[in-house]
Amino acid sequence: MNYRHIYHAGNFADVIKHCVMIMVLSHLQQKDGGLGILDAFAGLGRYDLTADAPQKTGEYKSGIERVMLAKFTNSDLAAYQKAVRPFWKRGRYPGSPLILAYKLRLQDRMVVNELHNDDARTLRNFMNPYPHVQVTQEDAYQAMRAFLPQKNMREFVVIDPPFERKDEFEVLQIEVEKALKKSSTATLFIWYPVKAGSGADVMIENCTKAAQNKGLSRVHVCEFLQFPRDQIDTFNGCGLLTLNAPFTLFDRVENFRTELCAALGYGEITQRWLINS
Ligand SMILES: C[S@@+](CC[C@H](N)C(=O)[O-])C[C@H]1O[C@@H](n2cnc3c(N)ncnc32)[C@H](O)[C@@H]1O
Repeated sequence: MNYRHIYHAGNFADVIKHCVMIMVLSHLQQKDGGLGILDAFAGLGRYDLTADAPQKTGEYKSGIERVMLAKFTNSDLAAYQKAVRPFWKRGRYPGSPLILAYKLRLQDRMVVNELHNDDARTLRNFMNPYPHVQVTQEDAYQAMRAFLPQKNMREFVVIDPPFERKDEFEVLQIEVEKALKKSSTATLFIWYPVKAGSGADVMIENCTKAAQNKGLSRVHVCEFLQFPRDQIDTFNGCGLLTLNAPFTLFDRVENFRTELCAALGYGEITQRWLINS
């Protein structure tokens, strides 16, 4: 486990992931019933952007720094900015566990899971103030199998692997299929990198087939590209695949994509329904 998210915290990939994650969550929270959330690859929970690692890469400067300097008219972008601002003021960036924890309602519960020893310890400290959050330290896919299905709760699972393993895309699609067998109503939110020949397209196709087999009515994908999708040997962008996506997701992404790319000063966001019935 060599991947350390602190080098990348607040970069464009975090920005797009967390914006869309908040959109999905806010839709799921429109219903009063409790929500069970699993953040399967949780990371540290909070990142000090003044530390050596993010200063060395400077990735946050072309991501969250530009977003925080922008004035948005779009309400989803404004909501994201609002979630980040208290951290940003102190030179910090919130990871997915803290962004989600801030938005929990009394009836919601969350499990945040991180395998790395040091990161899991840090995460535990950051999550201490949140009584509705349980921190676990196991393999993410094991955590997913244990989490699904939730009794009397709708489920939202955030799957954000580091893609260190060569077979991550294959494992991911197998585990998504297993997850849908355990709960065909869970909303699964998957982050993936866009690189030429990476296996992302096969993963998307197989997850869509699994979703079709289980009768899901909505699967959505959106991608942020900083370089052409098939450019060789570069990190061209990232994608978000949402199974059991909210019906509002397409319009919400449509409404924010131009404004977000203008704030970043580069890139484009594309999206489509893979299933919409
Ligand atoms: C991309 S980072 C997570 C970032 C976080 N989701 C966020 O948005 O703030 C991926 C994390 O998964 C952890 N990880 C790697 N392999 C894992 C595994 N098999 N199970 C659980 N966590 C794992 C890494 O230590 C890393 O902290």
